[in-house]
Amino acid sequence: MNERDSEAAASALLAAGFEMASSESEADVLLFNTCSVRDQAERKAIGKIGLVKRGKRVRPDLVVGVLGCMAQSLGEELFEKIPHVDFVLGTDRLGDLVEVLNAAIARRVKVSRTDAAGDVEASRLSGHLPLDRRSSQVSAFVSLMRGCDRFCSYCIVPYVRGRECSRPVGEVLDEVSRLVCEGVKEIVFLGQNVAAYGKKESGGVSWLPELFERANDISGLRRIRFTSPHPADFDDALIEAVAVVPKVCDNVHLPLQSGSDRVLAAMNRNYSSAEYFSVVEKLKRLSGGLTFSTDVIVGFPGETDDDFRATRTLMEEVGFDNAFIFKYSPRRGTRAASFADSVPLESKEERNAVLLADLKRRAESANSSLVGERVETLVEGVSRRNASRWFGRSRTNKMVVFDPDPSILVGDVVSPVVERSTAATLFGAFPSEE
Ligand code: 5AD
Ligand code: SF4
Repeated sequence: MNERDSEAAASALLAAGFEMASSESEADVLLFNTCSVRDQAERKAIGKIGLVKRGKRVRPDLVVGVLGCMAQSLGEELFEKIPHVDFVLGTDRLGDLVEVLNAAIARRVKVSRTDAAGDVEASRLSGHLPLDRRSSQVSAFVSLMRGCDRFCSYCIVPYVRGRECSRPVGEVLDEVSRLVCEGVKEIVFLGQNVAAYGKKESGGVSWLPELFERANDISGLRRIRFTSPHPADFDDALIEAVAVVPKVCDNVHLPLQSGSDRVLAAMNRNYSSAEYFSVVEKLKRLSGGLTFSTDVIVGFPGETDDDFRATRTLMEEVGFDNAFIFKYSPRRGTRAASFADSVPLESKEERNAVLLADLKRRAESANSSLVGERVETLVEGVSRRNASRWFGRSRTNKMVVFDPDPSILVGDVVSPVVERSTAATLFGAFPSEE
Protein backbone atom coordinates (compact mmCIF):
# COMPACT_ATOMS: atom_id res chain seq x y z
CA MET A 1 0.00 0.00 0.00
CA ASN A 2 2.70 2.41 1.04
CA GLU A 3 4.88 1.59 -1.92
CA ARG A 4 1.91 2.37 -4.16
CA ASP A 5 1.38 5.69 -2.36
CA SER A 6 5.07 6.57 -2.76
CA GLU A 7 4.75 5.93 -6.48
CA ALA A 8 1.61 8.08 -6.64
CA ALA A 9 3.42 10.90 -4.79
CA ALA A 10 6.45 10.66 -7.08
CA SER A 11 4.19 10.64 -10.12
CA ALA A 12 2.32 13.77 -8.97
CA LEU A 13 5.61 15.59 -8.33
CA LEU A 14 7.15 14.60 -11.65
CA ALA A 15 4.00 15.78 -13.42
CA ALA A 16 4.30 19.11 -11.59
CA GLY A 17 7.86 19.60 -12.87
CA PHE A 18 9.89 18.35 -9.91
CA GLU A 19 12.80 16.03 -10.58
CA MET A 20 13.84 12.93 -8.70
CA ALA A 21 17.18 13.47 -6.88
CA SER A 22 19.76 10.77 -7.24
CA SER A 23 20.64 10.72 -3.56
CA GLU A 24 19.42 12.02 -0.22
CA SER A 25 22.30 14.48 0.08
CA GLU A 26 21.47 16.07 -3.27
CA ALA A 27 17.76 16.46 -2.63
CA ASP A 28 16.16 19.84 -1.92
CA VAL A 29 13.05 18.13 -0.61
CA LEU A 30 12.90 15.00 1.54
CA LEU A 31 9.58 13.20 1.80
CA PHE A 32 9.02 10.40 4.27
CA ASN A 33 6.11 8.10 3.53
CA THR A 34 5.43 6.46 6.86
CA CYS A 35 3.59 3.46 8.23
CA SER A 36 2.17 3.20 11.74
CA VAL A 37 0.64 -0.26 11.57
CA ARG A 38 3.32 -1.49 13.95
CA ASP A 39 5.23 0.30 16.65
CA GLN A 40 8.59 -0.74 15.20
CA ALA A 41 7.82 0.88 11.82
CA GLU A 42 6.80 4.07 13.55
CA ARG A 43 9.91 4.25 15.73
CA LYS A 44 12.10 3.60 12.70
CA ALA A 45 10.44 6.43 10.78
CA ILE A 46 10.81 8.87 13.67
CA GLY A 47 14.48 7.88 14.00
CA LYS A 48 15.11 8.35 10.30
CA ILE A 49 13.36 11.73 10.10
CA GLY A 50 15.27 12.77 13.23
CA LEU A 51 18.56 12.12 11.46
CA VAL A 52 17.77 14.80 8.90
CA LYS A 53 18.18 17.48 11.56
CA ARG A 54 21.90 17.82 10.81
CA GLY A 55 21.31 18.23 7.09
CA LYS A 56 18.74 20.88 7.77
CA ARG A 57 21.17 22.80 9.98
CA VAL A 58 23.73 22.87 7.16
CA ARG A 59 21.09 23.60 4.50
CA PRO A 60 18.22 25.57 6.03
CA ASP A 61 16.37 25.54 2.69
CA LEU A 62 15.87 21.80 2.81
CA VAL A 63 12.14 20.99 2.97
CA VAL A 64 11.07 17.98 5.03
CA GLY A 65 7.59 16.49 4.62
CA VAL A 66 5.96 13.52 6.32
CA LEU A 67 3.24 11.52 4.55
CA GLY A 68 1.29 8.35 5.25
CA CYS A 69 -0.26 6.64 8.24
CA MET A 70 2.01 8.09 10.90
CA ALA A 71 1.41 11.57 9.52
CA GLN A 72 -2.30 10.84 9.71
CA SER A 73 -2.29 9.54 13.25
CA LEU A 74 0.12 12.05 14.80
CA GLY A 75 -0.73 15.17 12.77
CA GLU A 76 0.59 18.36 14.37
CA GLU A 77 2.08 16.34 17.23
CA LEU A 78 4.85 15.53 14.76
CA PHE A 79 5.99 19.17 14.78
CA GLU A 80 6.53 18.84 18.53
CA LYS A 81 8.30 15.50 18.27
CA ILE A 82 10.46 16.55 15.32
CA PRO A 83 10.65 20.36 15.04
CA HIS A 84 12.50 20.38 11.70
CA VAL A 85 9.51 18.86 9.88
CA ASP A 86 7.93 21.44 7.55
CA PHE A 87 4.68 19.75 6.62
CA VAL A 88 2.54 16.77 7.52
CA LEU A 89 0.12 15.29 5.02
CA GLY A 90 -2.40 12.60 6.05
CA THR A 91 -3.39 9.55 4.03
CA ASP A 92 -6.44 11.22 2.53
CA ARG A 93 -4.51 14.34 1.58
CA LEU A 94 -1.91 13.02 -0.81
CA GLY A 95 -3.80 14.86 -3.56
CA ASP A 96 -2.70 18.14 -1.92
CA LEU A 97 0.99 17.26 -2.06
CA VAL A 98 2.06 19.62 -4.84
CA GLU A 99 0.17 22.56 -3.37
CA VAL A 100 1.45 22.00 0.17
CA LEU A 101 5.01 21.39 -1.00
CA ASN A 102 4.99 24.59 -3.05
CA ALA A 103 3.73 26.49 0.00
CA ALA A 104 6.49 24.96 2.13
CA ILE A 105 9.10 25.90 -0.46
CA ALA A 106 7.74 29.46 -0.47
CA ARG A 107 8.43 29.35 3.30
CA ARG A 108 5.08 29.95 4.73
CA VAL A 109 3.95 28.53 8.05
CA LYS A 110 4.12 24.85 8.85
CA VAL A 111 1.20 22.92 7.38
CA SER A 112 -0.53 19.85 8.74
CA ARG A 113 -3.44 18.43 6.77
CA THR A 114 -4.98 15.24 8.02
CA ASP A 115 -8.72 15.69 7.55
CA ALA A 116 -10.75 13.37 5.32
CA ALA A 117 -10.92 14.57 1.74
CA GLY A 118 -13.48 12.39 -0.03
CA ASP A 119 -13.20 12.94 -3.73
CA VAL A 120 -9.47 13.42 -4.30
CA GLU A 121 -8.99 9.70 -3.86
CA ALA A 122 -9.76 8.66 -7.41
CA SER A 123 -7.44 11.21 -8.97
CA ARG A 124 -4.58 10.47 -6.64
CA LEU A 125 -4.91 6.74 -7.15
CA SER A 126 -5.04 6.89 -10.90
CA GLY A 127 -1.74 8.71 -11.54
CA HIS A 128 1.16 6.39 -12.16
CA LEU A 129 4.86 6.60 -12.64
CA PRO A 130 6.62 6.16 -15.97
CA LEU A 131 7.99 2.65 -16.26
CA ASP A 132 11.65 3.59 -15.80
CA ARG A 133 10.84 5.18 -12.45
CA ARG A 134 9.08 2.18 -10.96
CA SER A 135 10.73 -0.42 -8.76
CA SER A 136 9.84 -3.16 -11.24
CA GLN A 137 9.45 -2.91 -15.01
CA VAL A 138 7.40 -6.09 -15.08
CA SER A 139 5.09 -6.01 -12.08
CA ALA A 140 2.90 -3.10 -10.96
CA PHE A 141 0.57 -2.45 -8.05
CA VAL A 142 -2.95 -1.23 -8.68
CA SER A 143 -5.04 -0.04 -5.72
CA LEU A 144 -8.61 -1.30 -5.73
CA MET A 145 -9.79 0.43 -2.63
CA ARG A 146 -8.80 2.33 0.42
CA GLY A 147 -9.63 2.02 4.10
CA CYS A 148 -11.01 -0.87 6.09
CA ASP A 149 -14.27 -1.49 7.94
CA ARG A 150 -13.17 -4.58 9.83
CA PHE A 151 -11.83 -3.00 13.02
CA CYS A 152 -9.64 -5.87 14.19
CA SER A 153 -9.01 -4.94 17.80
CA TYR A 154 -5.22 -4.52 17.42
CA CYS A 155 -5.23 -2.57 14.16
CA ILE A 156 -4.80 1.14 13.56
CA VAL A 157 -5.65 1.00 9.83
CA PRO A 158 -9.39 1.82 10.10
CA TYR A 159 -8.45 4.91 12.14
CA VAL A 160 -5.72 6.20 9.84
CA ARG A 161 -7.06 5.07 6.47
CA GLY A 162 -10.75 5.60 7.12
CA ARG A 163 -13.77 3.66 5.90
CA GLU A 164 -13.64 1.19 3.03
CA CYS A 165 -14.22 2.73 -0.39
CA SER A 166 -13.75 0.90 -3.72
CA ARG A 167 -12.86 2.23 -7.15
CA PRO A 168 -15.16 1.31 -10.04
CA VAL A 169 -14.11 -1.80 -11.98
CA GLY A 170 -13.93 0.14 -15.26
CA GLU A 171 -11.52 2.68 -13.83
CA VAL A 172 -9.28 -0.08 -12.46
CA LEU A 173 -9.31 -1.90 -15.81
CA ASP A 174 -8.36 1.31 -17.63
CA GLU A 175 -5.36 1.64 -15.35
CA VAL A 176 -4.39 -1.99 -15.92
CA SER A 177 -4.65 -1.52 -19.70
CA ARG A 178 -2.47 1.58 -19.57
CA LEU A 179 0.17 -0.24 -17.55
CA VAL A 180 0.10 -3.23 -19.90
CA CYS A 181 0.54 -0.87 -22.88
CA GLU A 182 3.69 0.39 -21.14
CA GLY A 183 5.05 -3.14 -20.87
CA VAL A 184 3.84 -4.35 -17.47
CA LYS A 185 3.17 -8.10 -17.42
CA GLU A 186 1.92 -8.64 -13.89
CA ILE A 187 -0.60 -6.70 -11.83
CA VAL A 188 -0.86 -6.93 -8.06
CA PHE A 189 -4.30 -5.75 -6.95
CA LEU A 190 -4.01 -4.03 -3.60
CA GLY A 191 -6.32 -3.21 -0.74
CA GLN A 192 -6.54 -3.59 3.02
CA ASN A 193 -9.22 -6.19 2.37
CA VAL A 194 -9.40 -6.95 -1.36
CA ALA A 195 -11.92 -9.75 -0.78
CA ALA A 196 -14.44 -7.03 0.15
CA TYR A 197 -13.72 -5.04 -3.05
CA GLY A 198 -17.01 -3.46 -4.16
CA LYS A 199 -19.12 -5.26 -1.52
CA LYS A 200 -20.29 -2.04 0.06
CA GLU A 201 -20.98 -0.34 -3.27
CA SER A 202 -22.87 -3.34 -4.72
CA GLY A 203 -24.84 -4.24 -1.59
CA GLY A 204 -22.87 -7.35 -0.67
CA VAL A 205 -21.32 -8.94 -3.77
CA SER A 206 -17.59 -8.56 -4.28
CA TRP A 207 -16.43 -7.24 -7.64
CA LEU A 208 -13.13 -9.08 -7.37
CA PRO A 209 -14.15 -12.23 -9.34
CA GLU A 210 -15.51 -10.04 -12.15
CA LEU A 211 -12.34 -7.93 -12.10
CA PHE A 212 -10.22 -11.09 -12.41
CA GLU A 213 -12.28 -12.27 -15.41
CA ARG A 214 -12.07 -8.94 -17.19
CA ALA A 215 -8.39 -8.34 -16.44
CA ASN A 216 -7.73 -11.87 -17.70
CA ASP A 217 -9.03 -10.77 -21.10
CA ILE A 218 -6.43 -7.99 -21.43
CA SER A 219 -3.94 -9.32 -23.92
CA GLY A 220 -0.31 -8.78 -22.99
CA LEU A 221 -1.07 -9.19 -19.28
CA ARG A 222 0.43 -12.46 -18.08
CA ARG A 223 -0.28 -12.63 -14.37
CA ILE A 224 -2.72 -11.40 -11.76
CA ARG A 225 -1.99 -11.33 -8.03
CA PHE A 226 -3.91 -9.80 -5.14
CA THR A 227 -3.26 -8.88 -1.53
CA SER A 228 -4.62 -9.03 1.15
CA PRO A 229 -8.01 -10.71 1.49
CA HIS A 230 -9.76 -11.07 4.87
CA PRO A 231 -10.67 -14.76 5.35
CA ALA A 232 -14.28 -13.94 6.34
CA ASP A 233 -14.80 -12.24 2.95
CA PHE A 234 -13.15 -15.05 0.97
CA ASP A 235 -16.41 -16.49 -0.34
CA ASP A 236 -17.08 -19.36 -2.75
CA ALA A 237 -17.26 -17.06 -5.78
CA LEU A 238 -13.73 -15.81 -5.05
CA ILE A 239 -12.45 -19.32 -4.36
CA GLU A 240 -13.80 -20.39 -7.72
CA ALA A 241 -12.38 -17.34 -9.52
CA VAL A 242 -8.90 -18.13 -8.17
CA ALA A 243 -9.30 -21.65 -9.54
CA VAL A 244 -10.73 -20.88 -12.98
CA VAL A 245 -9.28 -17.56 -14.11
CA PRO A 246 -6.07 -18.64 -15.85
CA LYS A 247 -3.90 -15.58 -15.18
CA VAL A 248 -4.62 -15.54 -11.43
CA CYS A 249 -1.44 -16.90 -9.86
CA ASP A 250 -1.02 -19.96 -7.66
CA ASN A 251 -0.31 -18.22 -4.36
CA VAL A 252 -2.85 -16.98 -1.87
CA HIS A 253 -1.79 -14.61 0.89
CA LEU A 254 -4.44 -15.17 3.55
CA PRO A 255 -3.80 -13.40 6.87
CA LEU A 256 -4.41 -15.83 9.73
CA GLN A 257 -3.23 -13.71 12.72
CA SER A 258 -3.85 -16.57 15.18
CA GLY A 259 -4.91 -20.22 15.16
CA SER A 260 -6.61 -19.97 18.56
CA ASP A 261 -10.37 -19.35 18.53
CA ARG A 262 -10.17 -17.51 21.83
CA VAL A 263 -7.52 -15.12 20.50
CA LEU A 264 -9.29 -14.72 17.15
CA ALA A 265 -12.43 -13.64 19.03
CA ALA A 266 -10.45 -11.15 21.14
CA MET A 267 -8.88 -9.85 17.93
CA ASN A 268 -12.39 -9.36 16.49
CA ARG A 269 -11.41 -11.32 13.40
CA ASN A 270 -14.89 -12.75 12.81
CA TYR A 271 -13.84 -16.27 11.90
CA SER A 272 -12.87 -19.41 13.75
CA SER A 273 -9.82 -21.51 13.01
CA ALA A 274 -12.17 -24.11 11.42
CA GLU A 275 -13.70 -21.50 9.13
CA TYR A 276 -10.25 -20.32 8.09
CA PHE A 277 -9.18 -23.89 7.40
CA SER A 278 -12.31 -24.54 5.38
CA VAL A 279 -11.42 -21.66 2.99
CA VAL A 280 -7.94 -23.17 2.59
CA GLU A 281 -9.34 -26.66 1.98
CA LYS A 282 -11.77 -25.45 -0.67
CA LEU A 283 -8.98 -23.52 -2.39
CA LYS A 284 -6.73 -26.57 -2.34
CA ARG A 285 -9.52 -28.80 -3.66
CA LEU A 286 -10.34 -26.50 -6.59
CA SER A 287 -6.83 -25.32 -7.50
CA GLY A 288 -4.03 -27.86 -7.39
CA GLY A 289 -0.53 -26.62 -6.63
CA LEU A 290 -1.42 -23.49 -4.68
CA THR A 291 1.00 -22.12 -2.11
CA PHE A 292 -0.19 -20.18 0.91
CA SER A 293 1.38 -17.31 2.79
CA THR A 294 0.08 -15.39 5.76
CA ASP A 295 0.42 -12.78 8.51
CA VAL A 296 0.55 -13.91 12.14
CA ILE A 297 0.73 -11.88 15.35
CA VAL A 298 2.47 -13.49 18.32
CA GLY A 299 1.99 -12.30 21.88
CA PHE A 300 -1.46 -10.79 21.52
CA PRO A 301 -2.78 -9.84 25.03
CA GLY A 302 -3.65 -13.01 26.91
CA GLU A 303 -2.09 -15.41 24.38
CA THR A 304 -1.19 -18.56 26.36
CA ASP A 305 1.15 -21.40 25.44
CA ASP A 306 -1.92 -23.37 24.37
CA ASP A 307 -3.12 -20.55 22.13
CA PHE A 308 0.32 -20.35 20.56
CA ARG A 309 0.39 -24.12 20.04
CA ALA A 310 -2.95 -23.86 18.21
CA THR A 311 -1.40 -21.28 15.85
CA ARG A 312 1.61 -23.46 15.26
CA THR A 313 -0.52 -26.53 14.56
CA LEU A 314 -2.80 -24.72 12.14
CA MET A 315 0.18 -23.26 10.29
CA GLU A 316 1.56 -26.76 9.88
CA GLU A 317 -1.78 -28.10 8.66
CA VAL A 318 -2.14 -25.38 6.04
CA GLY A 319 1.53 -25.84 5.11
CA PHE A 320 2.46 -22.16 4.75
CA ASP A 321 5.90 -21.81 3.27
CA ASN A 322 6.01 -18.05 3.66
CA ALA A 323 4.69 -15.77 6.40
CA PHE A 324 5.17 -12.42 8.04
CA ILE A 325 5.32 -12.92 11.78
CA PHE A 326 4.74 -9.84 13.93
CA LYS A 327 5.23 -9.34 17.64
CA TYR A 328 2.14 -7.66 19.02
CA SER A 329 2.50 -3.98 19.87
CA PRO A 330 -0.34 -1.82 21.20
CA ARG A 331 -1.51 0.94 18.84
CA ARG A 332 -3.09 4.17 20.07
CA GLY A 333 -6.84 4.33 19.95
CA THR A 334 -7.41 0.65 19.15
CA ARG A 335 -9.57 -1.56 21.35
CA ALA A 336 -6.70 -3.88 22.22
CA ALA A 337 -4.65 -0.93 23.51
CA SER A 338 -6.91 -1.02 26.58
CA PHE A 339 -6.03 -4.70 27.22
CA ALA A 340 -2.94 -5.38 29.33
CA ASP A 341 0.01 -6.14 26.99
CA SER A 342 0.48 -9.27 29.07
CA VAL A 343 2.90 -11.42 27.09
CA PRO A 344 6.51 -10.57 28.01
CA LEU A 345 8.77 -9.48 25.17
CA GLU A 346 10.99 -12.53 25.57
CA SER A 347 8.00 -14.87 25.05
CA LYS A 348 7.02 -12.87 21.97
CA GLU A 349 10.55 -13.26 20.67
CA GLU A 350 10.65 -16.95 21.43
CA ARG A 351 7.31 -17.59 19.71
CA ASN A 352 8.44 -15.53 16.76
CA ALA A 353 11.63 -17.60 16.47
CA VAL A 354 9.72 -20.90 16.73
CA LEU A 355 7.37 -19.95 13.89
CA LEU A 356 10.24 -18.71 11.72
CA ALA A 357 12.12 -21.99 12.24
CA ASP A 358 8.98 -23.97 11.31
CA LEU A 359 8.61 -21.89 8.17
CA LYS A 360 12.21 -22.39 7.15
CA ARG A 361 11.93 -26.14 7.55
CA ARG A 362 8.69 -26.28 5.52
CA ALA A 363 10.00 -23.99 2.78
CA GLU A 364 13.24 -25.97 2.46
CA SER A 365 11.33 -29.19 2.10
CA ALA A 366 8.70 -27.78 -0.31
CA ASN A 367 11.40 -26.17 -2.47
CA SER A 368 13.64 -29.23 -2.53
CA SER A 369 10.70 -31.28 -3.82
CA LEU A 370 10.78 -29.04 -6.91
CA VAL A 371 14.34 -30.01 -7.84
CA GLY A 372 14.26 -31.57 -11.31
CA GLU A 373 10.95 -29.88 -12.22
CA ARG A 374 10.33 -27.03 -14.63
CA VAL A 375 8.91 -23.86 -13.07
CA GLU A 376 7.11 -21.24 -15.11
CA THR A 377 8.98 -18.02 -14.32
CA LEU A 378 8.20 -14.41 -15.17
CA VAL A 379 11.59 -12.76 -15.73
CA GLU A 380 12.06 -9.59 -13.66
CA GLY A 381 15.73 -8.70 -14.29
CA VAL A 382 19.12 -8.69 -12.60
CA SER A 383 19.22 -10.38 -9.20
CA ARG A 384 19.49 -7.88 -6.36
CA ARG A 385 21.81 -10.19 -4.45
CA ASN A 386 24.14 -11.26 -7.23
CA ALA A 387 24.53 -8.99 -10.24
CA SER A 388 25.81 -11.81 -12.45
CA ARG A 389 22.49 -13.62 -12.14
CA TRP A 390 18.93 -12.89 -13.18
CA PHE A 391 15.75 -13.55 -11.26
CA GLY A 392 12.04 -13.99 -11.73
CA ARG A 393 9.07 -15.38 -9.86
CA SER A 394 7.13 -18.59 -10.19
CA ARG A 395 3.33 -18.59 -10.30
CA THR A 396 3.53 -19.76 -6.67
CA ASN A 397 5.47 -16.57 -5.84
CA LYS A 398 8.83 -18.23 -5.31
CA MET A 399 12.02 -16.45 -6.27
CA VAL A 400 13.72 -18.20 -9.19
CA VAL A 401 17.37 -17.34 -9.95
CA PHE A 402 19.18 -18.32 -13.15
CA ASP A 403 22.14 -17.38 -15.36
CA PRO A 404 21.36 -14.70 -17.94
CA ASP A 405 21.11 -15.65 -21.57
CA PRO A 406 20.98 -13.18 -24.47
CA SER A 407 17.79 -14.81 -25.73
CA ILE A 408 15.95 -14.10 -22.46
CA LEU A 409 14.45 -10.64 -21.99
CA VAL A 410 12.93 -8.90 -18.98
CA GLY A 411 9.19 -9.64 -19.04
CA ASP A 412 9.55 -13.04 -20.76
CA VAL A 413 7.97 -16.14 -19.32
CA VAL A 414 10.50 -18.99 -19.25
CA SER A 415 10.55 -22.47 -17.71
CA PRO A 416 13.92 -23.32 -16.21
CA VAL A 417 14.55 -26.67 -14.55
CA VAL A 418 15.23 -26.38 -10.80
CA GLU A 419 18.75 -27.63 -10.09
CA ARG A 420 18.96 -26.81 -6.40
CA SER A 421 17.03 -24.84 -3.82
CA THR A 422 17.12 -23.11 -0.45
CA ALA A 423 14.24 -22.01 1.80
CA ALA A 424 14.02 -18.71 -0.08
CA THR A 425 15.17 -19.46 -3.63
CA LEU A 426 14.95 -21.90 -6.50
CA PHE A 427 18.07 -22.06 -8.69
CA GLY A 428 17.14 -22.87 -12.26
CA ALA A 429 18.96 -23.71 -15.48
CA PHE A 430 18.09 -24.29 -19.11
CA PRO A 431 19.45 -27.70 -20.09
CA SER A 432 20.23 -27.84 -23.81
CA GLU A 433 17.80 -30.03 -25.78
CA GLU A 434 19.11 -33.56 -26.42
N1 5AD B 1 0.89 -5.42 16.38
C1 5AD B 1 1.53 -6.34 15.64
N2 5AD B 1 1.21 -6.62 14.36
C2 5AD B 1 0.20 -5.93 13.81
N3 5AD B 1 -0.33 -5.97 12.57
C3 5AD B 1 -1.31 -5.06 12.50
N4 5AD B 1 -1.43 -4.41 13.67
C4 5AD B 1 -0.49 -4.94 14.50
C5 5AD B 1 -0.13 -4.70 15.85
N5 5AD B 1 -0.77 -3.79 16.60
C6 5AD B 1 0.10 -6.92 11.53
C7 5AD B 1 -1.04 -7.86 11.12
C8 5AD B 1 -1.39 -7.36 9.74
C9 5AD B 1 -0.06 -6.84 9.25
C10 5AD B 1 -0.12 -5.91 8.10
O1 5AD B 1 0.48 -6.19 10.38
O2 5AD B 1 -0.54 -9.18 11.05
O3 5AD B 1 -1.92 -8.38 8.90
FE1 SF4 C 1 -6.45 -4.00 9.99
FE2 SF4 C 1 -8.16 -6.02 10.25
FE3 SF4 C 1 -8.57 -4.14 8.38
FE4 SF4 C 1 -6.55 -5.88 8.07
S1 SF4 C 1 -8.75 -6.40 8.11
S2 SF4 C 1 -6.47 -3.65 7.77
S3 SF4 C 1 -5.90 -6.18 10.19
S4 SF4 C 1 -8.63 -3.85 10.59
